[in-house]
Amino acid sequence: MKNMSKKKYLVIGNPIDHSLSPLLHNYWIKESNIEAVYEKQKMTINDLKSLFLRIQKKEITGVNVTVPFKKEVISYLDELSPEAQKTQSVNTINLNNGKVIGHNTDINGFESAIKDIQYDLIEKKILILGAGGVVPSIIFALNKMKVSEIAVSNRTKSKVENLRGIFQNIKIVDWGNFSDFDMVINATSVGLKKTDTFNLDFSKIGKGKFFYDIIYNPSDTIFLKKGKETGNQTENGKKMFLYQAAAAFKIWHGVQPEINDETIRLLDE
Ligand code: ATR
Repeated sequence: MKNMSKKKYLVIGNPIDHSLSPLLHNYWIKESNIEAVYEKQKMTINDLKSLFLRIQKKEITGVNVTVPFKKEVISYLDELSPEAQKTQSVNTINLNNGKVIGHNTDINGFESAIKDIQYDLIEKKILILGAGGVVPSIIFALNKMKVSEIAVSNRTKSKVENLRGIFQNIKIVDWGNFSDFDMVINATSVGLKKTDTFNLDFSKIGKGKFFYDIIYNPSDTIFLKKGKETGNQTENGKKMFLYQAAAAFKIWHGVQPEINDETIRLLDE
């Protein structure tokens, strides 16, 4: 049809400037010959109501949600996927049979990234730093992957205690008081800015550990630098970002986009 306009997709958050989702999704949209455009929009909590009216009116076809709205959007949704329900975290929204539905593709993103780098998580002890928006998804994925222990440490302890309401099996560790672990995951926002510093002493943790940072931009964070300095394996959040985006793309367009060297290069600074 001649007058059919392009379908519109959006990533919302605050801040949003750093998001590479438009770059990646528009690349896949072009590769797959889909008539669509993907944009980013900085929002405040007061903008959410009108956003959902626009989704219902089909002015917007799909939305990705990032910090700090992954939980806040839930009250506007008609239905949640089981994963979004359990984690109380939504990063992907679509309209299906007139209903606005919230999904969580961060779980799949983390799981696929770990599988891709062939790190065997079975029976491993995991320490998570942080208790923000993405942490329930990480815990959900780790439970699926049959780790032996999940310890969580956050600067503000009450936030970890809240997480216990969702996941009773987590162990709470005081900030800076490292427990014994095989893999440590940085899920704090420390490192998003190149000038950030960690007030943690990593010097005594030893070798043979795996440092994983959820942050993908910059690719070499202060946390990963500490991991390398102490002779440990490191990985940033780039693959997790790619796989969560691919899963969202599949929900919206029904097509599984390819993740290859070119898509990985696309995200390099
Ligand atoms: P939100 O807290 O709104 O969910 P987030 O970006 O998902 O936002 O989470 C930020 C995480 O980084 C939190 O765990 C935060 O710790 P607090 O709960 O104590 O605020 C953590 N964080 C941010 N700056 C930090 C810093 N300088 N040192 C340690 N942790 C920090």
